Amino acid sequence: MQTSMSIREYPEVSMINNRTRTLSRRQFMRGVGLLSAGIILMPENIFAENSQPVTRAIPSTGERIPVIGMGTSRTFDAGNDPAARAELRQVLQVFFDNGGALIDSSPMYGSSEMVVGDLLKTIHNKQKLFAATKVWIDGKQNGIDQMQASMRLMGVATMDLMQIHNLRDWKSHLPTLREWKQEGRIRYIGITTSHGRYHAELMQIMRTEDLDFVQFTYNIGNRTVEDSLLPLAADRGMATLINRPFQRGDLFRKVKGKALPEWAGEFDCKSWGQFFLKFAVSHPAVTCVIPATSKVQHMADNMAANFGKLPSPSMRKRMIEYFTSL
Ligand SMILES: NC(=O)c1ccc[n+]([C@@H]2O[C@H](COP(=O)([O-])OP(=O)(O)OC[C@H]3O[C@@H](n4cnc5c(N)ncnc54)[C@H](OP(=O)(O)O)[C@@H]3O)[C@@H](O)[C@H]2O)c1
Repeated sequence: MQTSMSIREYPEVSMINNRTRTLSRRQFMRGVGLLSAGIILMPENIFAENSQPVTRAIPSTGERIPVIGMGTSRTFDAGNDPAARAELRQVLQVFFDNGGALIDSSPMYGSSEMVVGDLLKTIHNKQKLFAATKVWIDGKQNGIDQMQASMRLMGVATMDLMQIHNLRDWKSHLPTLREWKQEGRIRYIGITTSHGRYHAELMQIMRTEDLDFVQFTYNIGNRTVEDSLLPLAADRGMATLINRPFQRGDLFRKVKGKALPEWAGEFDCKSWGQFFLKFAVSHPAVTCVIPATSKVQHMADNMAANFGKLPSPSMRKRMIEYFTSL
């Protein structure tokens, strides 16, 4: 695990880039303002070129991916709204400019797959894209049709990760996922949940089926998987994608008006968003965390957690104690 990397920063989200050159708040806002007007792209010199994101290996192949990915539930369901799409285009550009790779979507998220696919055509620096979506329907043929539609909408010839959403009709879809993987149409297969009531069934599937990825909820306010899914995934050699790292925003509501502890600086953390993300990422069985945002500043904030030191086991205990005392 990398623990002593420089963090990319600019003052709007309390970050300092690797060349120790910072932009003033005004400079940053001017850049964002121009972006909003669609005049220029995010200035590339905001970000350092020589710092690398923290990465983790996918156990089934050893391929490394950055520890911060992004979700698209609700945030990218923008339909054809031009103003929302313009903002989301910047969100996506900031993601890639800060070393982002994994984007998680689903047919369950309204127009999100289409919006991601359309916006990707206008983004640069996206060579590292790791596209992930899900199948969320009953019936084998329906699943095939839906997965084909997802690949078309997201604009990818090969889907990096195809997951079965919320375990839905998994016995019908798993053989298709295996065939498609064999044929090279998808690279990895997985299964997801965000509900504790599915954990027992998910664990049973993990014990009996070979999967590359499992996705579930883990955050500092909801740590039940520490004794169950996380160690099982490690034992079974499965990569983990962590959804709801902010408990859909509830964690921010809990700390509203509360000061970030000074010692958060010891693991290069300058905001509550980074505090929550670095907590999740620092669990050794976590491969990648997928926060969702519709805002450029929040994406920049979240991507800062992709860099710098991570909390040690004793620091993690301190974080839990502090958070639960609030
Ligand atoms: N069963 C499944 O497969 C499943 C279930 C749940 C989720 N997921 C996946 O996991 C992803 C993440 O989960 P989620 O979207 O439910 O919730 P989340 O990422 O825990 O929270 C999203 C909320 O946090 C806010 N936020 C993001 N960054 C922030 C920041 N730096 N500062 C302040 N607020 C911030 C967002 O608002 P703003 O837009 O205002 O930033 C949004 O309201 C989903 O998008 C989806 O891809 C999968």
